[in-house]
Amino acid sequence: MKKIKMVWAEDTQHAIGKNGQLAWYIPDDLKLFRQETTGTLMIVGSNTWRSIGKPLPNRTTMVLTRQRNFQTGFSDVLVKHSINDALAYIDSEERDISIAGGAKIYKEFMAYATDLIVTRVDTVIDGDTFVEDIDLTKFKLVESVKHVKKEITDYNYIVERYERRN
Ligand SMILES: NC(=O)c1ccc[n+]([C@@H]2O[C@H](COP(=O)([O-])OP(=O)(O)OC[C@H]3O[C@@H](n4cnc5c(N)ncnc54)[C@H](OP(=O)(O)O)[C@@H]3O)[C@@H](O)[C@H]2O)c1
Repeated sequence: MKKIKMVWAEDTQHAIGKNGQLAWYIPDDLKLFRQETTGTLMIVGSNTWRSIGKPLPNRTTMVLTRQRNFQTGFSDVLVKHSINDALAYIDSEERDISIAGGAKIYKEFMAYATDLIVTRVDTVIDGDTFVEDIDLTKFKLVESVKHVKKEITDYNYIVERYERRN
């Protein structure tokens, strides 16, 4: 069955971003992000689209915005103007779907997600964009993998995988 997976990294306060950007550089987590989103239809909100700035290779990007005249500048990037339009497109899509942020998009797609892949970074970034607690009555933790800091610029973090309860 097609998955709708949400992929994000948060600090110990549930912060995911600051000033429109990620607040850390974690190469192994970017690799995880690439693995989880490659080959999917990847959905982002317009703020996250601005922070990425271009379509990523080997996946289709869909940007959500309410602005009717929104232009990405890339003919292969899809633009949708409501959750319902995005869901209708998802219905006709055979590939897995990845939801890649930001906070507004995670919140709105949480009801439809089948899988959550969450990197819990052991730091506090004084962020301005936050995700909500995962509802454990709806999702169960199926895997938890610890990453131990390798060098001074690295972070300790845990990658957790959740699946929707039946
Ligand atoms: N740590 C992580 O894993 C991670 C991942 C992704 C992003 N981030 C960070 O998160 C921050 C951005 O998150 P954000 O919450 O500010 O913004 P966002 O979710 O990326 O985008 C929000 C925008 O999406 C559009 N939108 C939202 N719901 C919509 C709907 N139902 N219908 C149509 N359009 C809709 C609206 O665009 P318009 O205003 O254009 O109408 C809204 O302003 C950045 O700091 C980014 O770096 C972190």
